[in-house]
Amino acid sequence: MRVTAMNRQIETKLQFPQGFLLGAASSAHQVEGNNTNSDWWELEQMGRLPKSGLAADHYHRYAEDFALAQSIGLNAMRISIEWSRMEPIEGKWAVAEVEHYKKVLRLLKELRMSRLVTLFHFTLPQWVAHAGGMETSRGIQAFARFAWFVAQNLGSEIDFWVTINEPEIYAAAAYNRGVFPPFRKKNRQLLTVFHNLIRAHRAAYRAIKEVRPQAQVGLAKNSTHFEPARRRNYLDQVAAWFLDRVGNHYFLENVRHHLDFIGLNYYFSRTLSFQGRRGWRSEAAEGPKTDLSWPIYPEGIYYLLKDLKKYGKPIYITENGLADAADANRRQFIYDHLVCVKKAMDSGADVRGYFYWSLTDTYEWETGFKPKFGLVEVDFETQQRRIRASAKIFKELA
Ligand code: FCB
Repeated sequence: MRVTAMNRQIETKLQFPQGFLLGAASSAHQVEGNNTNSDWWELEQMGRLPKSGLAADHYHRYAEDFALAQSIGLNAMRISIEWSRMEPIEGKWAVAEVEHYKKVLRLLKELRMSRLVTLFHFTLPQWVAHAGGMETSRGIQAFARFAWFVAQNLGSEIDFWVTINEPEIYAAAAYNRGVFPPFRKKNRQLLTVFHNLIRAHRAAYRAIKEVRPQAQVGLAKNSTHFEPARRRNYLDQVAAWFLDRVGNHYFLENVRHHLDFIGLNYYFSRTLSFQGRRGWRSEAAEGPKTDLSWPIYPEGIYYLLKDLKKYGKPIYITENGLADAADANRRQFIYDHLVCVKKAMDSGADVRGYFYWSLTDTYEWETGFKPKFGLVEVDFETQQRRIRASAKIFKELA
């Protein structure tokens, strides 16, 4: 069944259940600034990546940012705790940083916002990276110890935990495409790291639960909606089915017994066609595109959510958003995706929240500061914030 049009123009009010989270997401390295002990920072200084510098100076301006989030009607925030700040040297925990994050998390509570916290969002402490990062068992153990430490010292201030952000994206960008540190293009390492991320998730899950058995622990799974380019072509169908199995379900199936909820990051839809000897061609779905040329296809989230029902776990959309400097399509984008989320809920998907990526403009990894994802625009010269018009949609929905 195709979900056509999805009430594109007719803005009927969407009714979400009581307690539904409407939030925004961010990650430490992308907004805090001066993450000087991370592997990214080191390579930025060597000229191998754009410099993040002060980023959005969120480390000092978090109160202003959260006030903006609240003012636009959000009731939840997803942030990440930067491992390289907390443990800049192996085994040496930075007390001042524990205090910092305690203040950050307590402020959210005062503002009555739910707190979803990520532990590994693409950056590692330099000492972990130098010792082989997630290629090694030592990296996994160190990560589990970090999770345990956070549970001990900040656990009472965290409502939802995300162990790892987008395992496949991280593994592929760092070990196959070679665009994230450590810039490898080796499929053997890619597979090792990918499997190690499964182990790392399980180990962190156990570590958190040991300290806080009631904690709600999940991960942020990047999933792509795959469609056969020719609906009746068997080989196109096989390709779509296969990539869905590998890309969307392999990781989840391997961690499903260590998962209290599923976090879904949705950005992509692709169509697949069999090209004979040339193998399969994967293309962005047709239609409008974002500033990064990513296809806009809200219906994809509906199909993915329906498919996630089989795990029998609550689902949070932990990321969904677009780069749109002109703010021309953001409002419609959010509305259309929420219509599709609601439709999935009406057909039984247990969705409990939606986090837009991102609250503010950010340092977008290897692409630097150019892509503008924020509900709040940031002038990176002056650090001035300005709420974009599209952000008003959350107040209307709240
Ligand atoms: C996701 C990342 C997030 C951000 C968005 C645009 O893959 O998790 O940090 O870069 O894409």
